[in-house]
Amino acid sequence: MSSPSPSSGASSPLRDARRSRFTYRQLAQMATYSTSTPLRVVAHIDLDAFYAQCEMIRLGVPEDKPLAVQQWQGLIAVNYPARKWEIGRHCNITEAKKLCPELIAQHVATWREGDDKWAYRDDAAANIATDKVSLDPYRLQSRKILALIKESLPKDLQKVEKASIDEVFLDLSAHIHSELLRRFPELSNPPPSGDAAESLPFPSAAALDWRDDNLVVLEEDQEALDPDWDDIVILMGSEIVRGVRAQIRGKLGYTCSAGIASNKLVSKLGSAFKKPNAQTVVRSRAVLPFLTAIKVTKMRNLGGKLGDQVVSTFGTESVKELRDIPLDQFKARLGEETAVWLYNTIRGIDHSEINSRTQIKSMLSAKSFRPSIKTPEQAIKWLRIFAGDIYSRLVEEGILEYKRWPRTINLHHRHAGQTRSKSSSISSGKALDEQALFTLAKELLHQIIAEGDVWPCANLSLSVGGFEEGVKNNMGIGAFFKKRDETPPLRPFDTVPESSTTEQQSKKPRLDKPSIHRFFHKRPAGDQDPLNVKESLNADQLQPNGASFPQLDQEKNNPEISSHETTETGNSAHFTGLSCLRCKASFADDMSFQSHQDWHFAKDIQDGERVKPTFAGQPAASRGHPPKGSGLASKRGRGGSKLEQGQSKLTFG
Ligand code: CTP
Ligand code: CA
Ligand code: CA
Repeated sequence: MSSPSPSSGASSPLRDARRSRFTYRQLAQMATYSTSTPLRVVAHIDLDAFYAQCEMIRLGVPEDKPLAVQQWQGLIAVNYPARKWEIGRHCNITEAKKLCPELIAQHVATWREGDDKWAYRDDAAANIATDKVSLDPYRLQSRKILALIKESLPKDLQKVEKASIDEVFLDLSAHIHSELLRRFPELSNPPPSGDAAESLPFPSAAALDWRDDNLVVLEEDQEALDPDWDDIVILMGSEIVRGVRAQIRGKLGYTCSAGIASNKLVSKLGSAFKKPNAQTVVRSRAVLPFLTAIKVTKMRNLGGKLGDQVVSTFGTESVKELRDIPLDQFKARLGEETAVWLYNTIRGIDHSEINSRTQIKSMLSAKSFRPSIKTPEQAIKWLRIFAGDIYSRLVEEGILEYKRWPRTINLHHRHAGQTRSKSSSISSGKALDEQALFTLAKELLHQIIAEGDVWPCANLSLSVGGFEEGVKNNMGIGAFFKKRDETPPLRPFDTVPESSTTEQQSKKPRLDKPSIHRFFHKRPAGDQDPLNVKESLNADQLQPNGASFPQLDQEKNNPEISSHETTETGNSAHFTGLSCLRCKASFADDMSFQSHQDWHFAKDIQDGERVKPTFAGQPAASRGHPPKGSGLASKRGRGGSKLEQGQSKLTFG
């Protein structure tokens, strides 16, 4: 860091006779990450077009080439060169290619039954029925980036919160505090009066060098004010962030954008303000003008129904106009808690902490089936994939290192609009591996099946939760996580039958039944928990454009959601890869595999195993192909059902 420094001004910065607006106490509070000191400095860093950058780096694609990450027929990430062609996540692959024929479209990696690991497959897009998306490659990059960020900050003076797969919050206060005392040793002296409420001496008026930062433009009179300590600390924060970004760029090749402000709320809005590869500083004097230009529905926690209700209740989406409404009026309409929270939020006030603990609360792996699946064998096939997915994430997320493991496992099964859930404990002290998870999952499935009337099934999801820390009896973690086949499968105990619900139990308020009054009953202001939120999503909150990422409130960019839910068409086939799960026959090529599948399919019908197939009466054109221009119909099962491979060869009377 080069500026500001004591030598940058003509005189020592502390010789100015004026007093600062800030006190010795507020300065000292920086060292303890107090959330109330106005000298707090928080940064939000968000990777640009993250999945797209991961693919570009993996594939060595030049930076100016347009690239999008494809999931089935939809796009889940679009790099900045491709955005120039007006390609966005709303596009499907056909539309995108029309807009830009040179677009490089890389399909996400997928899990496929029979394979031990996810893989990038050329035929993934055509195998929505048998594949499940894996975001593991992106999680791996995310972990590397996070590790580098932590490495580039002083070990004992950092507070880093991973907010999603491609973003972090940093509380830089303690780091800056120590740097400030180093540069301005006079600040370490106690207040002359001995009273911590005494004002600090005013810093010298040396012009601050903001380099290439974006600064929110201010009214001239505001801009003319000499910089006080809040400006100096935020400038130092900006220098730190510039350094962190340079490390990420230099060592790993990724560009990211950042916002630097005095809290999470404003820093996050700041990072989105200018992209890609830029950083925006929102000085405290700039907060109000900065927010004025932002719609209330773009603010944290206000992107969904709550925001809509605020807009309809008060007849405006302008933050500026909402600021004219007295707190009492908010209280009358919104209830005490929400009113105070909203009143603060539109003024850029947010005292939420940066939470540096790794907060995995649960992991969920799911699949929606269109058409529904109809047999235990089909369900079990998916349970194996879910178990593999979850296990790999337990390992990927650093479970081994953190010595944390899940204590509960849940299975949710949806039939006829109703979800049944079963859960059981995972015993500690015994090995937990993919096979053990699979066995537990099957047990739960059998319990659900035993209740009867469970087919067809529209959605299955497996989750683990109740993470515990520490290792009992100094037992090596290796004892908990063993390779497949090393240990006998665990048996569940303490089975807790849950009542039928339509949604996974979660701390997050249901998004489809919003109530302003209820909004904060379950989640106090500022206590947002993206991990918990993401885990509570279910298949019905999927985007209509086919991306598996629900556009939910402020969580719309929480990237890990899609790993928890693959979307769209399910599978009524019993095949994976080129081997038939039913009769174990294997096939050298697609053609013979498909005709074998046709044979099973026809036989099923003959045997009366299937209900009259849903697609039997449909014109061939609607089978497996969305109507032109509609990314929705076949993917969401509305108006068209995906066929099994080879099925169109069959004719039905
Ligand atoms: N993502 C997704 N679907 C969404 C939103 C996000 O799959 N509706 C994934 C994207 O693939 C993305 C990552 O989550 O790469 C991070 O999301 P976000 O930060 O919102 O977008 P980026 O693609 O990173 O683009 P930006 O440069 O605007 O941050
Ligand atoms: Ca991003
Ligand atoms: Ca993001």
